Amino acid sequence: NWNMRNFIDTEIERIRTIVGPTGEVIGAVSGGVDSTVAAKLMKEAIGERFHAILVDNGLMRLNEVPTVKDTLQKGLGINLTVIDASEEFLTNLKDISDPERKRKIIGNTFIRVFEREAAKITPKNGDGEIEFLLQGTLYPDVIESISFKGPSQTIKTHHNVGGLLEDMKLKLIEPLRELFKDEVRDLGEIMGIPHDLVWRHPFPGPGIAIRILGPVSPSQIEIARKADYIFIEEIKKAGIYNNISQAFACLLPVKSVGVMGDQRTYEQVIALRAIETKDFMTADWYEFDFEFLKTVSRRIVNEVRGVARVVYDITSKPPATVEWE
Ligand code: XMP
Repeated sequence: NWNMRNFIDTEIERIRTIVGPTGEVIGAVSGGVDSTVAAKLMKEAIGERFHAILVDNGLMRLNEVPTVKDTLQKGLGINLTVIDASEEFLTNLKDISDPERKRKIIGNTFIRVFEREAAKITPKNGDGEIEFLLQGTLYPDVIESISFKGPSQTIKTHHNVGGLLEDMKLKLIEPLRELFKDEVRDLGEIMGIPHDLVWRHPFPGPGIAIRILGPVSPSQIEIARKADYIFIEEIKKAGIYNNISQAFACLLPVKSVGVMGDQRTYEQVIALRAIETKDFMTADWYEFDFEFLKTVSRRIVNEVRGVARVVYDITSKPPATVEWE
């Protein structure tokens, strides 16, 4: 793909010109394709002078933090620091059920943690501070924020770093701001980012906190994570991961009666959600084979303690949203 190779060379030169010979850049990574491609470009352009930060909010999927760490650090050679802030997030989320309050708390906690860590980084060249902030903003985000906020302010608040620019006086670098998602994926493949990461389903910033209905606690996180892992593992095994736009498990705050062996159980319900969509504005639920659903249901009830029943969400968007919260 000549165009994309050309783009990479031009963009690397552009980044070097903006940052200069001694400038330092900081950026948050999530393990998603956008932030990873943006981080890889920075690495190619300025090496160790790009500082990637992964904030572990305790709300990512099973094994996700170590996997992302390995891929970025060892695989892609990115100068990455992982901050385990899970306790801080969980403390702030304690007893909170309202979805919008969860989002707000997670967003604010993220900013506090990120700023604190950014202040600790000492630039290699010794004089002064980090000057630039990397954002993996795509063209559709640019359009959307222009239409919502006017052309001068182009950062979506749900990207979680809205306040950073003002507080830290950082200048923004957005190498992907002219690209669409499929172009970012092409770029990712060309730059050697693992195929699985490039084609990963989107994962919301607030993570499984909005997939645990009701209060978020370590035991609820464990259940939701395990159930989700089994669901995705079976989807991959069945070879249908790329036919589905997004799939996940939701943990419902209701108990239901069941029977295991000769014991009566009284445990929670897992709702599975899988959708097909082009733009996430409208979506259809995915038509799994019944055999597939049977396998997933059996595995979740057998392997995840605390779950007595599995249901499949057969609601389109609209009227339902993709997420349950
Ligand atoms: P809904 O539930 O609004 O989801 O139909 C549409 C898409 O947006 C994602 N989503 C979020 N992503 N922070 C994010 O980064 C959020 O708070 C959030 N809420 C929903 C959702 O996963 C789906 O891809």
